[in-house]
Amino acid sequence: MNPIERALGILLLLTGGKLVSATVLAERFQVSLRTVYRDIDRLIALGVPVDAERGAEGGYRLASGYLQPPVALTRNETAALLAAMALVRSSRTVPLADDLTSAEKKLLASLPKSVHGLLKEADRIVGIEPIPPDIFHSGTKAEPTEDWQRALDGFMSGILDSKRVRFEHVNPSRNSAKGHDVEPYGVMFDRDLWYLAGRCVDTEMVKVYRADRVRDLEISGLFFRPDKNFSIKTMLGGAWLSQAMRRWEQEEEIAKILITAKQAKKLSADWYYRHAVFTPAGEGKILVSIPSTDRARILPLVRWLGPGAELLSPDALRLELSEEYAALTALYRAGSPVTNST
Ligand SMILES: *[C@@H]1O[C@H](CO)[C@@H](O)[C@H](O)[C@H]1NC(C)=O
Ligand SMILES: *[C@@H]1O[C@H](CO)[C@@H](O)[C@H](O)[C@H]1NC(C)=O
Repeated sequence: MNPIERALGILLLLTGGKLVSATVLAERFQVSLRTVYRDIDRLIALGVPVDAERGAEGGYRLASGYLQPPVALTRNETAALLAAMALVRSSRTVPLADDLTSAEKKLLASLPKSVHGLLKEADRIVGIEPIPPDIFHSGTKAEPTEDWQRALDGFMSGILDSKRVRFEHVNPSRNSAKGHDVEPYGVMFDRDLWYLAGRCVDTEMVKVYRADRVRDLEISGLFFRPDKNFSIKTMLGGAWLSQAMRRWEQEEEIAKILITAKQAKKLSADWYYRHAVFTPAGEGKILVSIPSTDRARILPLVRWLGPGAELLSPDALRLELSEEYAALTALYRAGSPVTNST
C-alpha cells in the first residue's frame, strides 16, 4: 500500500466522526506509529482538518462537516429538485446564484443516462411564466445589476457565517446613499424583488433593505451572535412594510388624499397602499396619508381613484392635476369626435 492509498484509507476511517487512535491506525495499515504521524501531517498539510486529541484516550477525528455522506437521490427526487430550481431561476435574481448553478451541474451529473437527456434541459419541460409588471409600482421592474447580486450573495454569506455586513443603501426619491452596518438575519422575496432583513447596528432596529438598492456590500470581520428568536415570518404579510411606512412618515414629505369609503376599500386591496394611514375625515370621507410626494407615484394614484378623490397636498401636484383636468374638460366639452366614415 503506497502513502496515497494509506492517506485515503485513513481519511475514510476518520469520516465516521469517531476518535481513532494512532495505534489502531498503525495496526490497521500495518505500519509504524511514526508512519501514521507522518501520514496525518501530510493530510493536515493538504488542508484536511484533522483534529488531534492528546493523552491515553487520544486519537484523531475529522472536523465535523468536512466530508458529507453521499446523498443518493431517486429519479423522482432529482426531477423534483430540478423543477424547483426552474421556479427559483424564473425570478430575476437568486441568492448565491453561482452556487445554484454548480449544484445544478452536480445534480445533472448524478442522473442516470435514461433521464439525462430529458432533464439536462429541464426548461424544455418545465416552464415558468415571469411575474407580470405591477402597474402601480412599475419601478420594481428594474434590471438586475452586479451590485444587486453581490448584495444578495454577501448578505446570505453574512447570515451563514454570523458576520456583519456593511453597505450603501440608495434612496432614489432623495437621490442619496447612506452607509449601514448590519447584522444580517434573513432574506425575503416579494413580487420579484429581494429584501434583506437585519439589525441595523446604529439604531439597534431590525430593518428591511431592498436588495436592488444596496451598493458595495462588504462582509466585515466582525462576528455577531444571531438572534435565535428572529424569524423572517414575522415580517411577511406586509408587516415589514407597515413598520417601514411608519418610519418614512417621520422622514419623508406626506401626500394627503381625501377619498370616499368605497375608494378606501378599493385602495386597501393594494399590497402597498393598504399599509398607508387611513383616517376618518367626517361626512363619510377618509383621509389617506402617503409618505411620498413623488409625482410619478402620486398622480397616477389620484387618477386611478377617479372622481371623489381629492389631492389635498402637496400644492404643486394639486396644481398640475388641476391643469390636466382642465385640459381634459375642454376636450370633452368640445363634443363627440368627428370620425371619418367610409
Ligand atoms: C415516481 O413518482 C411517481 C408518481 O408519484 C410514482 O408513481 C413512482 O412510483 C415514483 N417512482 C419511484 C421510483 O419512486
Ligand atoms: C425570545 O422569545 C421568547 C418567547 O417569545 C421570550 O420569552 C424571550 O424573552 C425572547 N428572547 C429574546 C432574547 O428576545
